[in-house]
Amino acid sequence: MDEIRILLVDDDATFCALTSDLLRKHGFIAETALNTLRAREILAQGTFDILMLDLCVPALQDGFGLLDEVRAKYPNLLVLMISGEGNISDAVHAIKNGASDFIEKPIEPEHLLVRIQNLSERIRGERQLKKLEQSAIGMVGVSDAMKKVFGQIVSAAGYDLPVLITGETGVGKELASRAVHRLSKFGGRDMVSINCASVPRDLFEAELFGYEKGAFTGAVNSYKGYFEFARNTSFFLDEISELPIDVQAKLLRVLSEGEIQRIGSKVGIADTRIISASNQDLQAAVQNGRFREALFYRLNSIRIHIPPLRQHSADIVPLAGHFINDFCQRQHTLPKEISPRAQVWLTEQKWEGNARELKNCVERAMICSQRSVLEADDFLILPGGEEADTTSEGTLRDSLRKYETHLIREHLKANGFNISQTAKQLGMDKSNLCKRIRALGISLQS
Ligand SMILES: Nc1ncnc2c1ncn2[C@@H]1O[C@H](COP(=O)(O)OP(=O)(O)OP(=O)(O)O)[C@@H](O)[C@H]1O
Ligand SMILES: [Mg+2]
Repeated sequence: MDEIRILLVDDDATFCALTSDLLRKHGFIAETALNTLRAREILAQGTFDILMLDLCVPALQDGFGLLDEVRAKYPNLLVLMISGEGNISDAVHAIKNGASDFIEKPIEPEHLLVRIQNLSERIRGERQLKKLEQSAIGMVGVSDAMKKVFGQIVSAAGYDLPVLITGETGVGKELASRAVHRLSKFGGRDMVSINCASVPRDLFEAELFGYEKGAFTGAVNSYKGYFEFARNTSFFLDEISELPIDVQAKLLRVLSEGEIQRIGSKVGIADTRIISASNQDLQAAVQNGRFREALFYRLNSIRIHIPPLRQHSADIVPLAGHFINDFCQRQHTLPKEISPRAQVWLTEQKWEGNARELKNCVERAMICSQRSVLEADDFLILPGGEEADTTSEGTLRDSLRKYETHLIREHLKANGFNISQTAKQLGMDKSNLCKRIRALGISLQS
């Protein structure tokens, strides 16, 4: 998509015909409109990159009106204003109102081409930048909601302030944190990450800030905490709501004083960019005293909220396609398509587990379906049975179901989730195993 589309608006039919011919000969896509009414219609129908607009023709009295309208409606459209000879005041007025350049009549073809080439370079540069940003963000999304999130990621990356990423489980908070880091000034370095839910409470302070030898009984050597590793890079604190309240106070001090304090000594300035994430309502945690208000406001300097997938269902099919491609690359298998009916079915699901649930569902279908075009029933998974509990009581049927789930999962785990090997070990046919995996809703991830 490297083409540049130009709309020329001028009431001189001969000028329009000659100029559009010249532009087409030089590889541009050119359309013409002899009045502003027609121009509005054409603009509404297609996407254009450059609008050449003659403001000096009486029939185009509304030219300035069109310019204002275009600036508001199509902010990415560049306007090359055509002015009458010596009509500099109009040109100045147009530039002030957002036109990108102007050219005086009579127009020499070479001059026009130079102006158009300059604008085209600018457009291609912007397109390239967008592509780079999109691939650096590394997230899929075509909906306005996700485009807004991508914009926030790019803008957050440019500041030195803490970023808080919120959203339900599986919406892509970790992915977004990596994108903020990658696009930031620390992007060339590794990001340091910690999951606050997985650190034992009494070790938290030592893990984060480290300690000096002899700082307490048992501190036989000095110990470098995460904060020191995170010097000159980003520090991602996942599930920040789980940070113990006393450690919250210490984190607040790091943020307000820019200083890390090892247990037993001061270590100096911490040039660290804090990115935190939470799927909990931190404001509610502040209200019921589980989270320090001052820390919340610090962490929340820049907020990126990722909406649940069901609120931007336009992204479901593109995401499913992305997960298929990703799966095929990792597993060296051929891609499959998703039938139009299955696409509708996928779009109508609730996806309480968001992108993660969709990813699991797509991968399960990739493994279990024999079809090259996936249908809705390939994605059908019965709920339940994530972690089989073989001890609890229930009906015989329930117990058997739980036992079967447990058995299949254990064998799958032991075989690195390789279906053929697991089927062999269980003495089952591969397609039968797939059916059972689907029927029991067994996850194909450890
Ligand atoms: N927009 C997206 N584009 C591509 N992949 C995505 C997107 N959003 C999420 N994913 C994928 O979905 C999965 C879950 O994402 P991630 O781990 O970032 O979610 P999370 O919000 O951190 O979840 P949790 O709250 O459970 O920690 C990952 O495999 C991730 O790669
Ligand atoms: Mg996460």
